[in-house]
Amino acid sequence: MIEDLWYRNAVVYSLNLETFMDGDGDGCGDFEGLIRRLDYLESLGVDAVWVGPFQPSPNRDHGYDIRDFYGVDPRYGTPGDFVEFISQANSRGIRVLMDLVVNHTSDRHPWFQSARRDPDSRYRDWYVWQKERPKQWDEGMVFPGVQEATWTKDEEAGAYYYHRFYDFQPDLNMDNPEVRTEVRRIMGYWLQMGVAGFRMDAVPFVIEGTHDGSGGEVPMHFEYLRQMRSFLQWRSAGAILLGEANVLPPENAKYFGTSGDGIHMMFNFFVNQHLFYALASGDTRPLAQALKATRALPPSAQWAHFLRNHDELDLGRLTEEQRALVFERFGPEPGMQLYGRGIRRRLAGMLGDRARLELAYSLLFSLPGTPVLRYGDEIGMGEDLSQKEREAVRTPMQWSRERNAGFSAADTIVKPVIEDGPFGCAHVNVESQRRDPGSLLNWMVGMIRLRKECPEIGWGSWRALPAGSSSVLALCYAWRGNDVVVLHNFADRPVEARFRVDAEGGEHLSSLLTEDEQHAGEDGLHRVMLPAYGYRWYRVGGFGYALRAKRDSGAGVAW
Ligand code: NOJ
Repeated sequence: MIEDLWYRNAVVYSLNLETFMDGDGDGCGDFEGLIRRLDYLESLGVDAVWVGPFQPSPNRDHGYDIRDFYGVDPRYGTPGDFVEFISQANSRGIRVLMDLVVNHTSDRHPWFQSARRDPDSRYRDWYVWQKERPKQWDEGMVFPGVQEATWTKDEEAGAYYYHRFYDFQPDLNMDNPEVRTEVRRIMGYWLQMGVAGFRMDAVPFVIEGTHDGSGGEVPMHFEYLRQMRSFLQWRSAGAILLGEANVLPPENAKYFGTSGDGIHMMFNFFVNQHLFYALASGDTRPLAQALKATRALPPSAQWAHFLRNHDELDLGRLTEEQRALVFERFGPEPGMQLYGRGIRRRLAGMLGDRARLELAYSLLFSLPGTPVLRYGDEIGMGEDLSQKEREAVRTPMQWSRERNAGFSAADTIVKPVIEDGPFGCAHVNVESQRRDPGSLLNWMVGMIRLRKECPEIGWGSWRALPAGSSSVLALCYAWRGNDVVVLHNFADRPVEARFRVDAEGGEHLSSLLTEDEQHAGEDGLHRVMLPAYGYRWYRVGGFGYALRAKRDSGAGVAW
């Protein structure tokens, strides 16, 4: 049944427990709080939530430094609370994805503690060591400017260990079959606990061969991904792997697997960065090229598209000039920039006005793939630049204008709420937007519904339509006898889009968001006047689409 590939037409919401909702009153968000907010997530219309790392952790990297893969950090509750959350989410039709962080552990993990203490420990070879300081000890850092090395001496071990990320995150040695077996055990454990899949952290680094510090090339072990995929699917047929892999388009096929036997979904960082360039420049051509460059996918695979996440907005894949322009428009002050390649701001802070926010989200919901929303962005939350590094975009959810933004009843809370300025909780919060029919939140609910009523986007094939202007992106989706056309104008002035729809009934378009019925001229061209940052969604051939829908098993899956 195609419906089993649920992620193809889903909307995903991403959150971190720490700052979402405090249920037990200790000032830190937790599963109890999240359970109380499931009604909110259900009414928003999301199909799945991706919950950031919640296992026991010294929490020096937002939980991405795990010291026990089989537990729940007491700050977030108990394993009992976790299972209760899964059950209550599932009963509302919401699936749960969790992070699979297996490139590294915390240096506090008992495996690393044992490995450093004893050269004969069974865990010694679970990590990557060199006796002498490797030549390339200060190359390949992921957090340049903050992280100083990739090889650090452990005095107790009397050796250097490899860490792609911070020095408190020693890399696991994935070439060791025992480590890979343990990773499968971790996956099996959480699948049994009810998760619907994993957001896989740092995929390219997980599968790269073992470094020896000499700077030589290391092989990429895509077979490790295939092994994980087949294990996952045997254990839980509907579960997925959603990979974090910021790689260039020619690499994509290897991650998805040429016959779809790799990971199911990947975040499309390439499109994300070109999308921000389009927002900054008004020129959609590089974005259209990025979409084309990432078009080819095996039938069961899917892109995950996003605007912002819990990290910096990484612009490392743009050209220098493109990046400079995005910096200039959205992160001009040095304090807004990070690692020489990114911007540590939320979307609303960068885009500023409602028209551009709507443009960005309308586009997100209409890109070929699965949209992933970041908590707080549905109400237009801002950032707190007084927080260090990426913490700027990880402030508590603004539920109301009450104390601690309704996030917690405690006197002291885990991270300061944004109180002041236009993004303070008095102005930006769920409760006031719920009451305002014209709010961003209510607009978002409508867009999520619209996206889900256009399965052509999640399932169909797409093509870009020439629209007569570099500031207009026109996409046409086709699936089972129906077509949908979406237009987005990135210019700060009105632009007329001129385009032809070569599809049955293509001379008549019915707008899904406005009253507008659009008819092609005698020359077969549609002419649509789009306001500055305007957008339109059309059904091709009027509203009889449900009558016209064809049965089809084109993707190799039965209906
Ligand atoms: C990617 C995560 O998104 C980021 O937050 C984290 O710091 C690194 N991986 C290391 O786990």
